[in-house]
Amino acid sequence: MSRAEELTTNEGLSACLRAAAAAPSIHNTQPWSFRVSDAADGALTGASIEVRADRSRRLPVLDPDGREMFVSVGAAVFNLRVALAAAGYRTSVHRVPDPDPDVAARIVVGAAEEPSGAALALHAAIPRRHTNRRPFSDRRIPYGTMEELRGAAAAESASLLDVGPELRDAVLGLTRTAEKRMRSDPAYLRELAAWTDTSGIGRVDGMPRHVLGPRARDAALPLRDLGLGLGLPATTVEFEPDPTLVLLFTPDDTTADWIRAGEAMQRIWLTATVRGLAMTPMSQLTEIAALRSLLSDTGTRYVAQMVLRIGYPLSPGLPTPRRPLPDLLA
Ligand SMILES: Cc1cc2nc3c(=O)[nH]c(=O)nc-3n(C[C@H](O)[C@H](O)[C@H](O)COP(=O)(O)O)c2cc1C
Repeated sequence: MSRAEELTTNEGLSACLRAAAAAPSIHNTQPWSFRVSDAADGALTGASIEVRADRSRRLPVLDPDGREMFVSVGAAVFNLRVALAAAGYRTSVHRVPDPDPDVAARIVVGAAEEPSGAALALHAAIPRRHTNRRPFSDRRIPYGTMEELRGAAAAESASLLDVGPELRDAVLGLTRTAEKRMRSDPAYLRELAAWTDTSGIGRVDGMPRHVLGPRARDAALPLRDLGLGLGLPATTVEFEPDPTLVLLFTPDDTTADWIRAGEAMQRIWLTATVRGLAMTPMSQLTEIAALRSLLSDTGTRYVAQMVLRIGYPLSPGLPTPRRPLPDLLA
């Protein structure tokens, strides 16, 4: 039996790694792998799990410096932490622990403990969380729930800013500018096409057609036009007139901040899922340095990492495929 096969027979460990791999990632690239050491057959105490960035899955056009790759990997780190907590283990997390920058985090599994209700609730939300690119209802998100989402960001050393009506027009305007600029770049379109053409048999990554979503009727809500790469015809529908947008900031812009941003995004997303909310990342404006810096203030240590649309869904988001576990073991 190979080492990889051996590891996948450890059921508790496999379940935790599968939960990690259910994380969201830019274009569903799933740019991660896991290296496990010292896992005993039964209990996981003493095991060490490296979550690694897989640079062969970085998007060279959209994400030349790998920021969104690390945000994606950070989301997988968070899922893994939650899965281990729900399985009844303490963990200690070391981000970017080695000179090798591809080791995003090393999670050392500690003693067994009773899982908290919060960990169990977040864990139960992992398989129910999907990106939803469809219209949301115009029901307002209660203040208490927004507070909970802000708390989720703060728990991961990040900050969530609820974008008010004035700033919203600016954020939507900048996103429209970014989207327009990117759609005129043939290299961007080729890269997008490569991750949306999932017609190949057994394709286990990328975004299948049924999740791409319609476009907003009056272009008021510039969600990323994912059908563009393949030249798919646009269906246009009415979206919520006053979308709720939030911005996610980290104090700095290092690799560790990008990972933290991914962990924070995922804590927010799972918390939102528990509350019946859905989300769409709208990251176009953060992909153009000049536009991202307009929303950032390094003096006050607010560096913009993600733009997220949040709301009560009118129809459910649908799942995307995932690579099988043996392919993820480094
Ligand atoms: C860093 C990052 C940026 C993303 N940006 C966008 C985006 O701009 N537009 C969009 O529709 N989805 C975006 N997504 C969502 C991914 O496309 C989605 O997570 C992936 O296809 C997997 O699907 P799932 O979230 O339903 O599991 C982003 C996700 C991440 C992690």
